[in-house]
Amino acid sequence: MRESLLDVLVCPDCQGELTLLPTRRSGDHIEEGSLKCRQCRRRFRIEHSVPNFVSEEDRGDVIQTTSGFARNWNEFNEIILDNDGLNDELFRDWIAPLDPEAMRGKLVLEPGCGMGRWLKVAARYDPRMLIGLDYSAVAYTAARNVRDLPNVHVVRADILRLPLKQKVEVAFCLGVIHHTPQPERSFKALLEVLSSTGILTVWVYGQENNGWIHRLITPIRVHITSKLPHRVLMSLSMLLTAPLCLAVAASAVLPLPYRRYLRHLRRYPFRYMSHIVYDHLVPEIAHYLSRGELERWVADASLHAHLSERNGNSWRLLVSRVAGTLPSALPRTG
Ligand SMILES: C[S@@+](CC[C@H](N)C(=O)[O-])C[C@H]1O[C@@H](n2cnc3c(N)ncnc32)[C@H](O)[C@@H]1O
Repeated sequence: MRESLLDVLVCPDCQGELTLLPTRRSGDHIEEGSLKCRQCRRRFRIEHSVPNFVSEEDRGDVIQTTSGFARNWNEFNEIILDNDGLNDELFRDWIAPLDPEAMRGKLVLEPGCGMGRWLKVAARYDPRMLIGLDYSAVAYTAARNVRDLPNVHVVRADILRLPLKQKVEVAFCLGVIHHTPQPERSFKALLEVLSSTGILTVWVYGQENNGWIHRLITPIRVHITSKLPHRVLMSLSMLLTAPLCLAVAASAVLPLPYRRYLRHLRRYPFRYMSHIVYDHLVPEIAHYLSRGELERWVADASLHAHLSERNGNSWRLLVSRVAGTLPSALPRTG
């Protein structure tokens, strides 16, 4: 971490100010050390250049889900980094209708940043400060991947215990809250760190058109594939990617189910696609959220929102407390 990150960090438990106790530096990076809360005296270690605020006493399924993703991100780190142009295209699609230019000069947060593929893309839009945050040890990989970007910082922390004292102006959270035990609670936790005119965008799995996945695949994922050793799950993912590629090719001419999603997958190289297959098989926790449920979150928190479906099987939800800050403002709900 760089010392400038201290301007936005705070103790996640008592909101006390933090004192830096560095032990090893390299250039402007603090590689190892700790942060001590001046109020509750708790210490948080800085390891691999990342401050770690994750509590040790968490639920087994949370640890399984996040460490499963960490294995996946680490395995596929190189192929993801090698596809910079594709990542840029995907990022714009995932956050639409938000224009990445909205991040210029802002304090931006990416909760659940994985290995940091979107951090690398978003940094180009010149946010004042961009903070990636992840629960798992993949935060160390993300920190390595963005080490040379002076406006980007990585923190290891839980969405439910955010160590932030400044309110963020833009937050994008892509493919994360449906992997937390209570997605609505995670959504509300993100709203708490949003400034009064801030914009939050989340992308989640949809319940619509995914009923069979929920009925047939979820039990297999929860009881079997999420428990497989990494190498076995890797081989299985590669094996399943082959017929998926055939379906992707056939979708160009045949009216297959999930045609839009299959056509979307055309742009991925084989190995990047194997990463997606692994990603679907590894987590114990995955919720499929309906339009009605997302609309209720918006109404309950009195937000302005823009809800759009993506590839017919997932939702992008863009919210703000102020209508004028949304690209296509809808009337206030609730
Ligand atoms: C499917 S991955 C998506 C990563 C990234 N957003 C992307 O699209 O490249 C989900 C990520 O969310 C993280 N995650 C899950 N629960 C979390 C929590 N409670 N707090 C912070 N990160 C969490 C996981 O560790 C994992 O890296």
